[in-house]
Amino acid sequence: MTESPSDVDTDPDTVRREAGRRRTFAVISHPDAGKSTLTEALALLSRAIQDAGVTHGKSSRHATVSDWMGIEQERGISISSAALQLTYRDTVLNVVDTPGHADFSEDTYRVLAAVDSAVMLIDAAKGFEPQTVKLLAVCKARNIPIITVINKWDRPGLDALGLIDDVGERTGMTPVPLTWPVGIAGEFQGLIDLRASRAIALEAVGAGAQAAAETDVDIDALEPREAGAWLEAREESGLVESSNGSFDREEFEAARQTPVLFAAAAKNFGVSQLLDILVDVAPSPSPRPSKEAGPRPIEAPMSGFVFKVQAGQDSSHRDHIAYLRICSGSFERGMVITNQRTGKPFATKYAHRVLGRSREVVDTAWPGDVVGLVNATSLRVGDSLFSEQPVRFPDIPRFSPELFAVARAKDPGRYKQFRRGIDQLEHEGVVQVLRSDLRGDQAPVLAAVGALQFEVAAERLGTEFSAPTSLDQLSYTLAMRVSPESQGVPETFRGGEILFRADGEAVAVFGDKWKIGHFTKDNPGVVLEPIGAAV
Ligand code: G4P
Repeated sequence: MTESPSDVDTDPDTVRREAGRRRTFAVISHPDAGKSTLTEALALLSRAIQDAGVTHGKSSRHATVSDWMGIEQERGISISSAALQLTYRDTVLNVVDTPGHADFSEDTYRVLAAVDSAVMLIDAAKGFEPQTVKLLAVCKARNIPIITVINKWDRPGLDALGLIDDVGERTGMTPVPLTWPVGIAGEFQGLIDLRASRAIALEAVGAGAQAAAETDVDIDALEPREAGAWLEAREESGLVESSNGSFDREEFEAARQTPVLFAAAAKNFGVSQLLDILVDVAPSPSPRPSKEAGPRPIEAPMSGFVFKVQAGQDSSHRDHIAYLRICSGSFERGMVITNQRTGKPFATKYAHRVLGRSREVVDTAWPGDVVGLVNATSLRVGDSLFSEQPVRFPDIPRFSPELFAVARAKDPGRYKQFRRGIDQLEHEGVVQVLRSDLRGDQAPVLAAVGALQFEVAAERLGTEFSAPTSLDQLSYTLAMRVSPESQGVPETFRGGEILFRADGEAVAVFGDKWKIGHFTKDNPGVVLEPIGAAV
């Protein structure tokens, strides 16, 4: 990624080779399962971060993650999603960040459109938690292959065999352990690396700041009093293997099998094994389906799609960044690309790789890479971009909102700014915007997956558009699309109402799922359909 544009070799073999050495994935987990710790550990072990000065932990992280907005600074959370790029064993790992907070947002789901696989992180003491389940559902709906990592094995937790059963039941995939822990949760001594048929003793070095020391163990040569946990690990892993079978790449890529690893990210235990597994088994970019022309070959001229748009990231110069996932060809900074939706050209003078606050200029990127296009005010989530051969990638699905609030400009004199702001937030996909004649243009309904989206919207309307806005939450909790063939659609009904998107699509909103039953009984001509992915 350091070549200058003129040196770039775009012949098909080079593009295929570069794509083949890329793994683009996200870590999905419930808050606190250890996503940031694991990401840091991956970075540490792949040497992207120098050993010196690296410590895991929330306090040290404040300085390294994005803190572009007041909300984020106050809470110490990362609202932005960017991609971290690491190189390990000559493979480029693009870790696409999924914002992690209890109030997560549509972005969390959308970034999954940009990945080729996911690492599902589970806290060994808590098992499956609600947010993991939701993100898992999005991955499953897209057939994204998933590697499962059971984290925090250094702390007391659930039983390994029980967790494996749970993974099988919850994911509907066959769990196939590739590493097995030696010692119960809380007494993590080592791992059986089932791929390499190795037993490895692990030892923490320097409080999480360095790779764990790994020593090969010959289980059969151990003293009887030391051998217990090792023999048990060997027996248990053998049991699972005989009932669940061994790893099969096709089954994994079809999301029917999930490899499972055990780790303690905070101690860097099991993390180098994960890196190896990402390199050896995670899929590299493959031809991406397109709307009109079948899958786009990797070596076709440059193309990609925008999976996230973010504004106001840098408070010193307000800017918009559109995150582009490259699907084919080579991207060179400075190339002029066309936006399929508008037919307009877009000059990529400012292309960056963004992680938190630091930006690095990107000169060249290949399929699987994520590029942040700065000053991209014309780009929207879902836009397809190409250099020469036009392509239209499938839309990024909308997700079914669960929260609804009426927005009103606090100062009626600033209605124009308010409307401009609402339109912009809608374009960027910060919130979904629904309107109705009954409510009028002055009081649109904002719809979201997480409450944080409302806070971001209100803050940006106030600061960026100078339109302080009040938000009154409505008691609705779910939405269904009203099929266009529907007859006799009412404006309002018991326990809900009909609202419209800017493109005219009608959406029925309800207080709870029981109201849907009443509605369909009262309005037999109306056909309701679920919105977006099943989450
Ligand atoms: P998140 O991004 O998924 O929200 O989780 P994060 O990495 O912030 O980890 C949440 C907490 O769990 C942190 O503790 C972190 O140190 C701890 N943790 C992560 N992985 C492991 C692990 O493998 N073993 C153990 N024992 N702990 C782990 P915290 O108390 O919230 O922060 P800090 O005081 O440790 O910085």
